[in-house]
Order: sequence, then structure tokens, then C-alpha cells
Amino acid sequence: MTKIVSQIIGCGSYLPERIVSNDELATRIETSDEWIRDRTGIRQRHLAADGEVTSDLATVAAQRALEHAGITGEEVDLIIVATTTPDLTFPATAVAVQANLGITQGAAFDLQAVCSGFIYGLSVADNFIKAGQSKTILVIGAETMSRIIDWEDRTTAVLFGDGAGAIVMRADNANGSGNGAQAGSNQQRGVLSTHLHSNGSLAGILCTDGGPSKSQTTGVVTMAGREVFRHAVTNLAGVLVETLDANGLTMQDVDWLIPHQANKRIIDSTIKKLGLPESRVVMTVDRHANTSSASVPLALDEAVRDGRIKSGDLILMEAMGGGLTWGAGLVRW
Ligand code: ACO
Repeated sequence: MTKIVSQIIGCGSYLPERIVSNDELATRIETSDEWIRDRTGIRQRHLAADGEVTSDLATVAAQRALEHAGITGEEVDLIIVATTTPDLTFPATAVAVQANLGITQGAAFDLQAVCSGFIYGLSVADNFIKAGQSKTILVIGAETMSRIIDWEDRTTAVLFGDGAGAIVMRADNANGSGNGAQAGSNQQRGVLSTHLHSNGSLAGILCTDGGPSKSQTTGVVTMAGREVFRHAVTNLAGVLVETLDANGLTMQDVDWLIPHQANKRIIDSTIKKLGLPESRVVMTVDRHANTSSASVPLALDEAVRDGRIKSGDLILMEAMGGGLTWGAGLVRW
């Protein structure tokens, strides 16, 4: 029987035009460029313009991904938008993107796993493809985190940015990937495996203080920074080892780690634990800050377009966010 695999056939991203430096933030709240860079590695962030909403960012990223894949929207039969900052409470931001792209066939829905949303989306899309339910899927991570930040709270205001990243995934049969690898072999191209986790008992350490049902507002981000940091390093290192073990691989086999870009210190501590050199890590947190579900596809797109990621490379992606949720995905490019 032919085994179906998911290939990533294109990627794209979008960052709002407006760049806000640490120095600019320091004119509004009691902070400094030095404190922010030392504690997080962040130098600047992009912020959406007035009236620019999550679906606008997502649509441009999706258009770029479709163009990169060399296909039109007519071939897309599922759109998944991972976001924690939807345009509206309903309908889903994914249907706004579908309309913007002029797509009228297939299905579209949002997925909420906060900063892990893209990894969750990758997993859901991979399983829809493997089950034979979809053939061509847009997976988008898009956020306007600036809209749910308390700009007076220096402990969170300095951490986040806005942006969007997208990939196009397509069903392929395992023998059709052109590299002669056997189905089930880790030389096979495409998504090799995904691994998802959550622990709702830790919801309170990273959440908003309101929502449509509880307070008829969106609320703003609240966070116990040190606790989040500690869980991030443990959970991310754990899920990366789990992913490699499941594929009979080691860190030495990995060409690129694309981590969630929350904080350079979290990334440094995680790779130190795993013995991975920084030269094999795609890092964008300095310029993008934490764009939640958009951070991994934004970093992926950058490394594909600047030529770092090449055909056949083994790419490990991970993220952790509110929930807590966390996960990883392994892809042979
Ligand atoms: N500028 C200047 N001083 C600040 C700022 C700021 N922006 N924010 C906090 N401080 C002060 C605090 O008030 C405190 O002052 P005090 O000692 O007088 O009380 C001091 O700096 C130290 O504060 P801590 O919170 O202990 O600082 P810490 O070293 O833990 O760094 C940080 C804070 C950067 C948030 C860190 O805990 C962290 O990175 N946590 C992970 C959180 C994260 O990345 N969240 C993103 C979402 S989760 C995810 O995506 C994985």
C-alpha cells in the first residue's frame, strides 16, 4: 500500500512595516535597551499599524507561501490559522484569510495553542494529509500580540511583536519524493513526526486576565516570567529528545533547529542542555521579539530564503506557550 507523506512545498512571511526599538520603548516605560537585550536578546519588534489586523498579516504571508510553492489558491483545500489574537471572537480568522485569498472551496478554521500554535497546526495538517482528508493545506501562524499587551506593564510589554508566517503542505506518496528513500525511513523527505503536549494545571503562569466568556473583553497578557522560563527549558529539551528518539536520530543528525523565538536565554539554555552548537540554530528573536505562533514559520522562511536551509536538510522545530502547551516537529526539507 502506498504511504502518504506531507511535504512542505513553500513558505512565506510578513512583518508589519513599523519597527519599534528598545530605546523607543524606554521613552514610554521604565526600562532600557541594556536590560531588554541582557535578559531576552531582543533589540526591536515590528508592530501592526492602526487598522492592520491579524488576517491582513496572515494573508500576505499566505500569498508569499503560495507563490513560493508555485501554486494558486484554487488548489488549497484546508486553511489552518494558528492565532491567539483573532480579528474577531468569531468567525475564525482563517475564513477571513480564505476570503482575502479568493478561495471558496475547502475548509478553514483557527487553532488556539498560543505560542505552540504553529507546531500544533503542523501536526494537525500532517494528520489530515496522512488520513487522506486534505491534499493541499495552508498552515499559518499570525499574531497581533501588541493588541493584548498592557503597554504600561514593563514585565511583558518589552517581550512581544507582531507578524505572520505560512507554509504550504501537500500530500505526496512516500516513493514520489524523488530521493529514493523508503517510506518510514528517516531519509524520507517531508514531515517525519510531530509531538504535542499540554498541562492545563499550569495555565495560570501565562495567560490573559480576561476573555469573551469571563469578562467580555480580550484581557491582557500576564506572566510569571521565571516560572515560565524554567518550564520552557525543561519541556522543550524533553520534547526535542522525544522527537529524535522516535526517529532513531541524535542531535548530531540535525542540520537546523528552529526554536520558538521567545527569549535568547531560553534558547541558549535549551541548546546547552542538548549539546547543539548555536551555529545550527536559526535565531530571529533579536529582530522580531516573541511573535507567538508566528515565530517559528517566520524564522523558517528567513532561513529558507537566505539559503541556509537546503533540500535534504533535517529541521527540528519546537515551541512552548500558554496552556502550558508545547511540541516539536521534525521535517526533512
Ligand atoms: N525593564 C527593566 N526592569 C525590568 C523589566 C524591564 N522591562 N521587567 C522587569 N524588570 C525588573 C523587575 O521589576 C525586577 O526588579 P526588582 O528586582 O527591583 O524587583 C528585576 O527586573 C528582575 O525581574 P525578574 O522578573 O526576576 O527578571 P528575570 O531575570 O526573570 O527576567 C524575563 C524576566 C525576561 C521575563 C524572564 O523571566 C523570562 O524570559 N521569562 C520567560 C518568559 C517568556 O519568554 N515569556 C514569553 C511567553 S512564553 C513563551 O513564549 C515560552
